[in-house]
Parts: sequence; C-alpha cells; structure tokens
Amino acid sequence: MKPSVSMKLELLLVFAVVLWVDSMPLSSTGRKKYNKLLLISFDGFRWNYDEDVHTPNMDQLVQEGVKAKYITPPMITMTSPSHFTTITGRWIEDHGVVHNMMFNSTTLLKLTHKNTLKRSAWWDNGALPLWITAQNQGLKTASYFYPGGGVNYSRQAVDRSLVEAEGHPDANETEWRQKIDTVMGWYAKENFDFVTLYYGEPDNVGHRVGPETEERRKIIGQIDRLIGYLRESIQKNNLSDHLNVIITSDHGMTTIKKSPAVKEIKLSEYINFANLTHFDMLDYGGFGMIRPKEGKVQEVYDKLKNAHPNLTVYKKEEIPENFHIAKNSRIQDIVLIGDLGFNLNSRYIFYVNKGDHGFSNQEMDMKAIFRAFGPDFRKNFIAEPFDSVSIYPLMCKLLGVDPAPNNGSLSDTQAMLVDYSDAGGHAGRIQTSVSLLVIMMFILLLL
Ligand SMILES: *[C@@H]1O[C@H](CO)[C@@H](O)[C@H](O)[C@H]1NC(C)=O
Ligand SMILES: *[C@@H]1O[C@H](CO)[C@@H](O)[C@H](O)[C@H]1NC(C)=O
Ligand SMILES: *[C@@H]1O[C@H](CO)[C@@H](O)[C@H](O)[C@H]1NC(C)=O
Ligand SMILES: *[C@@H]1O[C@H](CO)[C@@H](O)[C@H](O)[C@H]1NC(C)=O
Ligand SMILES: *[C@@H]1O[C@H](CO)[C@@H](O)[C@H](O)[C@H]1NC(C)=O
Ligand SMILES: *[C@@H]1O[C@H](CO)[C@@H](O)[C@H](O)[C@H]1NC(C)=O
Ligand SMILES: *[C@@H]1O[C@H](CO)[C@@H](O)[C@H](O)[C@H]1NC(C)=O
Ligand SMILES: [Zn+2]
Repeated sequence: MKPSVSMKLELLLVFAVVLWVDSMPLSSTGRKKYNKLLLISFDGFRWNYDEDVHTPNMDQLVQEGVKAKYITPPMITMTSPSHFTTITGRWIEDHGVVHNMMFNSTTLLKLTHKNTLKRSAWWDNGALPLWITAQNQGLKTASYFYPGGGVNYSRQAVDRSLVEAEGHPDANETEWRQKIDTVMGWYAKENFDFVTLYYGEPDNVGHRVGPETEERRKIIGQIDRLIGYLRESIQKNNLSDHLNVIITSDHGMTTIKKSPAVKEIKLSEYINFANLTHFDMLDYGGFGMIRPKEGKVQEVYDKLKNAHPNLTVYKKEEIPENFHIAKNSRIQDIVLIGDLGFNLNSRYIFYVNKGDHGFSNQEMDMKAIFRAFGPDFRKNFIAEPFDSVSIYPLMCKLLGVDPAPNNGSLSDTQAMLVDYSDAGGHAGRIQTSVSLLVIMMFILLLL
C-alpha cells in the first residue's frame, strides 16, 4: 500500500519528537552518567623531559592511554596566563590574565604571583573557567593549588579550593602523595566530578639549575614515581572505570644564555628608564612590556627596535594577530620578546635563574607535555601536536558540560576518544539524532 501524504507527515512528526527528546540534556536526576575527570598540571614540564630519564610509569601510560607528541601553549608562555587558557579555553587577550604578576601601569602597583592567587580582580575578567561553568550545570568541582582556582568569578567560588601558600615546599614527595590521597577521597567519598591538581615542579628545579641537569632528571624520576602512585590509588579506590585523567603542563623551559658566550640583553644600555618610561614589566624571563611616558612611545620604540640582534620589539598595534594577546587593555604600548634563551633585563642583570620561559611558543623548548588515560581514552594512541587552548572543549566533552564560548577546537582532540559520538556530551547526542533523522527521511521519501 502506498502511504498517504498525511501518513508520511505523521511519521515525520513522530521522528521529530523522538529527535527532540533524545537531544535534550537529561534532568539533574536523570543526567546521563559521565565519567569523572582529573586534570593534573606539572608546572614547566617540557614536552621531551621524559626522554632522557628512566620513567617506567609514564612509559606504561603510553601503552594504556594517549600521548600527544607535544602541545603548544599560548603565546605568553608563563604560568598564570597559560594555566588560565587551559581552564577557560580562551586566548590570553580574551581572558585577561596576561602575566604571572598582577599590575596596574597607572598606579604602578605590582604583586608577586603568590599574592595574586586570592585576588579576583586579577582573574575575573568575564571568561568563566570550567569549574564555574560545570558547577552551573550541576557538577561538583575542586581545585588543589591550580592557578586561578582560589578566586570568585561573577561572585561564584569554586566548590572546594586550596590555594598554595607563600613558601610552600614544592618537591616534598610525601606531601605530593598526600595530595593524591586527598583528591581520591574527594572523588570516592564526596562524589566530586572534576578536580584540577597542580604541582610546582619541575618548574622550580628548571629555573634554579637549568633544564639540562642531573637535578632536573631526578625530579622527573620523582614525578614518574608519583604517577605510579596515582595509578595504584585510582585502582585502590575502584575508580579505574570511572575516572579520566589528563596530565599536562603550562610551558617548557630553556637554558639561559649568559655572557661571555653571548651579549646579554640589558635595556638600560639603550634607553634611559627614568626619562622615558612610566612603567615596565621586565626581568621576568623572555617576555616583557613597557609603558613609556606620555609622548615617548616612538622614541622608546626607535631606541629599542634595532638595539640587540636577539630582541624583538612591537608597538602594541604591530603585535601579530596570531599571538592572540594584542586585544587586551592590560597589554602595554611596547611589547618585547627575547630570542630563545635571552632574558629581558632592565637596569641590572641580577636575574640568577639558570633556566627560564616566556619565549615564543613556536620554540620547541617552550612546548609542554600532554598525556591522558581512563575509560574514555583510547589506548596506545599517539596524538598529533595541538594548541593547549583545545584541552578545554575536550574536558567539556568528557564531563558532558555544554562549553562556554571558547577558542579551542574539539576536532584537535576528539580522535583520542574511544568513541567520539558516544564519549558523552550534548553534541554527541545531537549528532546521533540528526543522522537518525536523515536516515528516516530517506526511508520516507522512498516509500
Ligand atoms: C588602575 O588603577 C586605576 C586607579 O585606581 C584604575 O582606575 C584603573 O581601572 C586600573 N587599571 C586596570 C587595568 O586595572
Ligand atoms: C568570594 O565570595 C565570598 C562570598 O561573597 C567571599 O566570602 C570571599 O571572600 C570571596 N573570595 C575572594 C577570593 O574574593
Ligand atoms: C614533607 O611532608 C610531610 C607531610 O606533609 C611532612 O611530615 C614532612 O615533614 C615534610 N618533609 C620536609 C623535609 O619538609
Ligand atoms: C573497592 O572494591 C572492593 C571490591 O568490591 C572492595 O572490597 C573495596 O572496599 C572497595 N574499595 C573502596 C575504597 O571503595
Ligand atoms: C634625562 O633627563 C634629564 C633632565 O631632563 C636630562 O638632563 C638628561 O640628559 C636626560 N638623560 C638622557 C640620557 O636623555
Ligand atoms: C641571536 O642573534 C644572532 C644574530 O642575528 C643570530 O645568529 C642567533 O641565531 C640569535 N640567537 C637565537 C637564539 O635566536
Ligand atoms: C575567542 O572566543 C571568543 C568567545 O567566543 C570570541 O569572542 C573571540 O573572537 C575568539 N577569538 C578568536 C581569535 O577567534
Ligand atoms: Zn609555569
């Protein structure tokens, strides 16, 4: 029997309703079950730090999960800017955390990194980090020392947040394990869905003694033991089938070039700070900014432009768009970037660090690690390099959270997932339903 037009319409209506119901997020009680997620950041873990150290646990993870060859941090390769890109999925010009230090170039205020950790005014610039977006969608989240986890966003705090105190020891292995125990308890006993966990190493060692040293290799060994401990803890807490883990970092590290091997950059050799500048952010690795005195921008620029072969100088309006930093009002009139290994010293070379970062994110020494494992990740999968800004949509996908507007791209990372269309998330459900509808319409047309 040939179905009438009205029958076709009726069928179409039925399928439309099916699609509508299927693509709706389930209510809070009936929310589809997503796995939990742990994001661990080891500060300053360069992409290839595990290549010259015996790391049995990390090697095992390559078998059991995903390894990206490396990831590219955002252009200001510093701790707070980069961590905040990871947790917001926004470029630095959009999230506004443009430096580790909080500053105001009018009042000349400067606060050290540790002193920014509880200052909402520095972090809360409109880009909502994943903790808050997830909480607003019914999830329970926590931050253990992760930069930006200790402040309020649109007057909302992270459900649970521990902030690293001034002078906190960074390399105490016992304390490292206690942090894992604490976080496992949050998942197993208190049903947290998403936790970010931060470790200050290997950044400290990299700065203090340089990346190409025995001490740096030793701390990577310590991190490897911690990862072994993490895997055991996940098993002991029966979380193996319910917890996805991402291990990553904010930037790499390079050896600082010193005199007499090179001519170091000392800007006071080229400009008179007292006469020409109102404010500067310098003596902080490879990235710096200057606010010249009223009417002095061109003079400062001209004096610095060709001053040193390993110094690149931009007026704010010349900053390449693909750096994704220029749009922000906290970026000053003049931006300086040193070639790899050339720190930006202002008046004196008192900088004692053997290693540093802040250099171009295109330099291999600035690239960071990315590893992942857990029920939603493929095993023994090597992923192509990608921008760290794309970790955000991946995390949203894993948690089944509708992402806030962001600059990341799930297409960078979805191949890591066991089953993209089914790994969770609203988008996956809609996609399935749409294909279903297309098939149905085809059948109807054929009838
Ligand atoms: C700097 O401080 C001044 C004076 O308190 C204030 O008006 C201005 O908004 C601040 N600038 C930034 C970028 O926070
Ligand atoms: C966050 O907001 C709460 C409640 O208004 C307040 O008690 C707390 O001090 C705020 N925290 C920060 C870091 O501003
Ligand atoms: C390391 O941390 C543990 C646990 O917090 C503490 O008992 C111990 O004293 C610490 N060791 C050092 C050398 O600070
Ligand atoms: C894990 O599961 C085992 C076997 O069901 C059980 O004996 C153990 O108590 C569980 N451990 C935790 C921490 O829930
Ligand atoms: C700085 O300004 C003072 C006072 O105007 C002037 O005497 C001096 O020559 C200037 N120095 C330089 C290096 O321009
Ligand atoms: C520093 O500048 C010199 C001269 O232009 C160049 O040969 C060298 O490669 C530069 N160093 C780096 C690390 O880019
Ligand atoms: C980054 O994302 C924000 C929010 O969607 C958007 O406003 C901005 O234009 C994006 N930036 C770039 C460079 O695409
Ligand atoms: Zn860092």
